[in-house]
Amino acid sequence: MILHNERFTERDDAFVDIEDRGYQFGDGVYEFIRVYDGICFEMDSHMQRLKLSALKIELPLPYALEKITRNLTRLVEKNGLMNGFIYVQITRGVSQRMHHFPGNTTSVLVAYTQLGERPLEKTTHGIQAILTEDIRWKRCDIKSLNLLANVLAKQQAKKHGCDEAIMHRGSTVSEGSSTNVYIVERNVIYTHPINNLILNGITRIGVLQMARENGLRVVEEAFTVNELLEADEVFVTSTAIEICPVIRIDQTLIGTGQPGLVTRALQQAFEHRIV
Ligand code: PDD
Repeated sequence: MILHNERFTERDDAFVDIEDRGYQFGDGVYEFIRVYDGICFEMDSHMQRLKLSALKIELPLPYALEKITRNLTRLVEKNGLMNGFIYVQITRGVSQRMHHFPGNTTSVLVAYTQLGERPLEKTTHGIQAILTEDIRWKRCDIKSLNLLANVLAKQQAKKHGCDEAIMHRGSTVSEGSSTNVYIVERNVIYTHPINNLILNGITRIGVLQMARENGLRVVEEAFTVNELLEADEVFVTSTAIEICPVIRIDQTLIGTGQPGLVTRALQQAFEHRIV
């Protein structure tokens, strides 16, 4: 089953209007939520971010956030999903094509679930990444449907046999194409501060909290490409990839080329968080 506005329906019975503004302009916002053992992980944080993203683009929610949350939980139950994801998006609805807000549309919500195992192979052994210029706009804090720059970056990574593209604006590292990026230098964790140039990752919030609880120093300051390549450890985080070591970037081996101790400690703490 999928959720279409307030209705649970079969996937084949739902359709996207050719003039849906999400489809034509990417005029909408989304969330991607992990389900572990039938439980929606960090649901409230995802819902708050959804609300904030919508607010930032002046997109009215189709109905109350509490009800959206309840419906997403019901969707997981109805589909008997144990391990996987919920994808939910809200667009500005359907109208004759015009750039400005049409004014009389009703927001359209679509949500579905997807099976998905944990990325244990990657989190255990680490991944390889490429570097690429961050060509996105200046509102990367909004989880908007406009992902073309991210798509192109990820495709470039794939072409090079890598799992992630780490983006930089000039010499400053911002984030990955679908992850937040961290370096560890002498046991201190550095990551880009929360502002308009990165997404405030839900996994990031948890990781920084766990780090501090475990007595690790966290510095929310941007670092350079050189600092990234010379770091003791590099890792990325997201709903999909959890906490994942990066062991090589372009031709440069990170640290010893093995997942680092701080990354491992955070991964262990994360295991406790998800059960
Ligand atoms: N992406 N930065 C970007 C650009 C992202 O797209 C994501 C997540 C993150 C990490 O956010 P979180 O920890 O809340 O998942 C950071 C999701 C997984 C996606 O688009 O599929």
